[in-house]
Amino acid sequence: MLVLGIETSCDETAVAVVRDDRTILANVVLSQLDEHRPYGGVVPEIAARSHLDHIGGLVARALDEAGIGYEDLDGVAATAGPGLIGGVMVGLMTGKGIALVRKLPFVAVNHMEAHALTPRLTEGIDFPYLALLVSGGHCMLLAVTGPGGYRRYGTTLDDAVGEAFDKTAKMLGLGYPGGPALEAAARAGDPARFDLPRPMLGRPDCDFSFSGLKTAVRQTIDRLPAGALDRQTARDIAASFQQAVADVLADRAARAIARFRVEFPSSNTLVVAGGVAANQVLRAALSHAAGSAGMRFVAPPLALCTDNAAMVAWAGIERLRAGLTDTLDAPARPRWPLDETAAMPGG
Ligand code: KG4
Ligand code: ZN
Repeated sequence: MLVLGIETSCDETAVAVVRDDRTILANVVLSQLDEHRPYGGVVPEIAARSHLDHIGGLVARALDEAGIGYEDLDGVAATAGPGLIGGVMVGLMTGKGIALVRKLPFVAVNHMEAHALTPRLTEGIDFPYLALLVSGGHCMLLAVTGPGGYRRYGTTLDDAVGEAFDKTAKMLGLGYPGGPALEAAARAGDPARFDLPRPMLGRPDCDFSFSGLKTAVRQTIDRLPAGALDRQTARDIAASFQQAVADVLADRAARAIARFRVEFPSSNTLVVAGGVAANQVLRAALSHAAGSAGMRFVAPPLALCTDNAAMVAWAGIERLRAGLTDTLDAPARPRWPLDETAAMPGG
């Protein structure tokens, strides 16, 4: 089975072709970073227009790289949310158009489900597993039992973890995009120089909160004598912030592991996915937390942690195999909780 995947929910225009034996035949990602950099963040209108300018060419390129034509496809999958509505509509309409003309089954993919299922594409792991999803818009712990099968253990009460990285990087003048810039700066920093809070540490639930940590960074900067936010100080604050996040994620994951163990005693895998999962310090902390609890730890390769369409095509394959297709009136959904029955404190 060959599926075309399309991803346009944020600032990457991406198209991929994936086969159901877990082979990625093409994985084209066009980043819009340069277009958004002058504004220090993603501008939705610029993003939507840029997706529109590039999507057609990228579909052609992906098919070309895969060495196939439309007639070889068995399905089309496009991200339908959550994300920036203008961009989502560009990819969704493109996918629907191809499905309509080629009479192919269509799958409207939840972007977070695509992140959550990525370790099945890269490592072939079995359901169920425990997943920590960390991206620019989300931070949650879930038991994943199958396509569409999510039991939410915890979520953020305020900011997403990627958002906290991006805002902290901005405060430190580290440039855009914030996450990778902060990680790079922190490499030369002292994580023990600033004593930042570890919100939610030790709480019995599996929820997160990052706004207090962000405020603490702001106050730390404000308390510095004038002109003292030099390069090394910024690196030290970055390292201290990253260490605080690592400690919190490891603690929350440990709570979730304890619950997962009770609910799924025969399963043994912790997965981290989403853009923030590209961070090496966080990966190491989570790997350690999993190891201490006797769990296997799986993190996708960096290029499949950040946004891409191979994960969307794969989510399409998983859903098609389970008989889950969508009609061509499937809506674009700016908000789309994975676990639809649970209330979403942070949205
Ligand atoms: O999954 P993703 O590519 O897009 C969304 O679905 O949001 O995640 C993007 C987020 C951004 O907040 C970005 O700063 C963060 O992931 N990120 C990182 C790193 N690479 C990307 N955060 C920390 N360390 C990184 N190396
Ligand atoms: Zn994402």
